[in-house]
Amino acid sequence: MTIRQLINQRVSTRRRVQLSAASVRMSERLSACRAGWLVKPWLMRRYLRRPEEVDIEVTSSCDADCIMCPRRRMRRQPGPMAMPLFRKIVDEAVALGVRDLVLNGYGEISTLRNCRDYLAYIRERSRSIRVIVDTNGMRMDEAVASAYVELGVDVVNIAIDGATAQTFERIRKDLKLATVEANVHRLIDLRNRAGASRPFIMVHMIYMPENAHETELFLQKWTGVADRAGIAGLVSRVGSVPVRRVNRTSEKAPCILPWRQLPILSDGSVGLCCDDWDGAGGVGNVTGQSIKEIWRSQQRRHLRQLHLAGRAGEIALCAACQDPRPAPWWF
Ligand SMILES: C[S@@+](CC[C@H](N)C(=O)[O-])C[C@H]1O[C@@H](n2cnc3c(N)ncnc32)[C@H](O)[C@@H]1O
Ligand code: SF4
Repeated sequence: MTIRQLINQRVSTRRRVQLSAASVRMSERLSACRAGWLVKPWLMRRYLRRPEEVDIEVTSSCDADCIMCPRRRMRRQPGPMAMPLFRKIVDEAVALGVRDLVLNGYGEISTLRNCRDYLAYIRERSRSIRVIVDTNGMRMDEAVASAYVELGVDVVNIAIDGATAQTFERIRKDLKLATVEANVHRLIDLRNRAGASRPFIMVHMIYMPENAHETELFLQKWTGVADRAGIAGLVSRVGSVPVRRVNRTSEKAPCILPWRQLPILSDGSVGLCCDDWDGAGGVGNVTGQSIKEIWRSQQRRHLRQLHLAGRAGEIALCAACQDPRPAPWWF
């Protein structure tokens, strides 16, 4: 058993989330330290060995039509990821020692009638790999919520883009605020009644002009109710969603995502990063390649080199991106 697996087993999710925030703060402080470059080769090797996070789009179908989501223009066939492909990904991720499996992408997990089977397979293969679910919460009924609790999902992150039905339903078209809120309350209740420490339940609202006036009300509603309530930034999804501000602080600074995550779409194709909603990056396909091969491929190494050299603008998707995620101090 690796040290990471041991920590995952012994330390609660709440504590691990706090520790991870503390470690980010510590790296920021260390960035001022002159000796920082000494540990750079070691830290860099760690990143290149495996992705920290594998994002799996268990389905590309969705029950909503949100105004800030590019999925309505998807050229890919909507539908679930085939179970044999899902198993292959989980097997490889566990064998590689990946820390997080994020069930996310451009679809909604709870539209899958057998979503429990996907979660159960992960837990069959590993009790300790961290499982994170992103959901719109609309179909998170008792059966789905119970699966999250019983199968030890570590984090459930529910997107609720408003504090009133009028605002929420203008943004998250086809969803109902009252249903989503009731579903979140039931999940909290089910977990607490089971005396379980997992899942850590997060709610967030994406800040946009349509709901900016409800930020305070949203935080009042959810602070102290969910384990964490936060306001997230609107992302342009590589230039596909109009965003009124430009995040890019420096054209030259590398983005951390090519070192951190491997997003796999429902047909097995691999995106450049989680913003690559239609798989335009074309950086491999896990139906015919392994995660390890793709992660260490010449193509991926070249993309990282361009970022390090301040030439990310030569990659079409990165040139269109307004939201590079800052790399740590030692890059
Ligand atoms: C694409 S969704 C898929 C999962 C699920 N259907 C949901 O809505 O939570 C994944 C995450 O992206 C967020 N999201 C969607 N569009 C976004 C945007 N333009 N900027 C930032 N986050 C966005 C959602 O709130 C959610 O947390
Ligand atoms: S943000 Fe989520 S719920 Fe909304 S359309 Fe996109 S995938 Fe569906």
